[in-house]
Amino acid sequence: MKRKKVVLAYSGGLDTSVCVKWLAEEKNLDVVCFSADIGQGVNPPLLRKRAKSSGALKIAIQDLRREFVRDFIFPTLKAGAVYESKYYLATALSRPLIAKALVGVARKENASFIAHGCTGKGNDQVRFEVSVAALAPDLGVIAPLREWSLTSREEEVAYARRKRIPLEFGAGKLYSIDENLWGRSIEAGRLEDPWAEPPSEVYKLTKDPKKAPGNPQSVTIQFQKGIPVGLNGKRTDPLTLISRLDRLGGRHGVGRSDLVENRLVGIKSREIYEAPAAAILSLAHEALENLTLDRNLFHYKRLIAERYAELVYDGLWFTPLKTALDEFVDAASERVTGEVRVKLFKGNATAVGRRSPYSLYQKSLATYGKKDAFDRKIAEGFIKVWGLPYRGHK
Ligand code: ARG
Repeated sequence: MKRKKVVLAYSGGLDTSVCVKWLAEEKNLDVVCFSADIGQGVNPPLLRKRAKSSGALKIAIQDLRREFVRDFIFPTLKAGAVYESKYYLATALSRPLIAKALVGVARKENASFIAHGCTGKGNDQVRFEVSVAALAPDLGVIAPLREWSLTSREEEVAYARRKRIPLEFGAGKLYSIDENLWGRSIEAGRLEDPWAEPPSEVYKLTKDPKKAPGNPQSVTIQFQKGIPVGLNGKRTDPLTLISRLDRLGGRHGVGRSDLVENRLVGIKSREIYEAPAAAILSLAHEALENLTLDRNLFHYKRLIAERYAELVYDGLWFTPLKTALDEFVDAASERVTGEVRVKLFKGNATAVGRRSPYSLYQKSLATYGKKDAFDRKIAEGFIKVWGLPYRGHK
């Protein structure tokens, strides 16, 4: 009888390599590997070789970087969504994208299952599976790491040796790292002690602020309807824009964060993030909103941002609430057009200038100088009415 097919989200690391063999042998499936280039640095020839030698039927590799930025990263930036004030959601945002691509490959290959190499206690399993279920409820999902009895890296290595998966796996890795063009997430190892300061070796994109240049550097970022479209006055495509800001911010030690976060599955975990471009763009975007949105809209949008971040974190990307929030964010961003000047210096990014054709800032009203146009007399009546309910309330 012809074997059924499974499409596996494949990174080429130890976990997913062992998954290939395990799915083929234990589940008696034909394994199609799928790898996405989302800016983590993929090496297609190496991936192909590894997948084959682990026992895969074939491997599909897709460059999803542009789609990632256009459909996932920029909408989230525009929404102002940051999880627990510190995490720009790089890992979380990549999961629905990969899930969507997995479903595409599964359809093309006529597969019956999707599989992933996520652990059974993390957020990513939820994000993959909820996304797949939303897009293709008929597909089965297999999570080998929740099922198999290999409970440590050593056991996985032993399994790989036993099954003659000819892979060169170095000594035990110190950290668990997830990376893409929007940022890096680092956890485990010495970071599991929330009191311990992250060792300098965990950082790759950002310089230690202590060793960053002694002079500040400025960059201006142009936005159109809440989306960054240029750097220093020149139109710049999204991928270049992000990688330039990563390099620039990284040089100045901008974009590090250290967070004990609340996982969806009830666990608190400690994660280090590096996301220079995300940090700079978020800051600049908010500075432009400060200038162009009225008070009610700005404040309300911040509530939406919080909710949006939760949805992304919780794996609820392909849901009606998320679609509806996008409509709100789009409407709220109609006038978020203009530019912001950001100064980078020793671990800090600060918005130091902003301007927009839709600026609501009126110097004639704000000024304390001679040309003041604000009618102070009307303030008196306003204050009386405003404070009316509280008169005499201690
Ligand atoms: N805590 C982050 C999230 O849930 C990142 C998870 C992956 N982290 C890692 N170092 N492998 O989105």
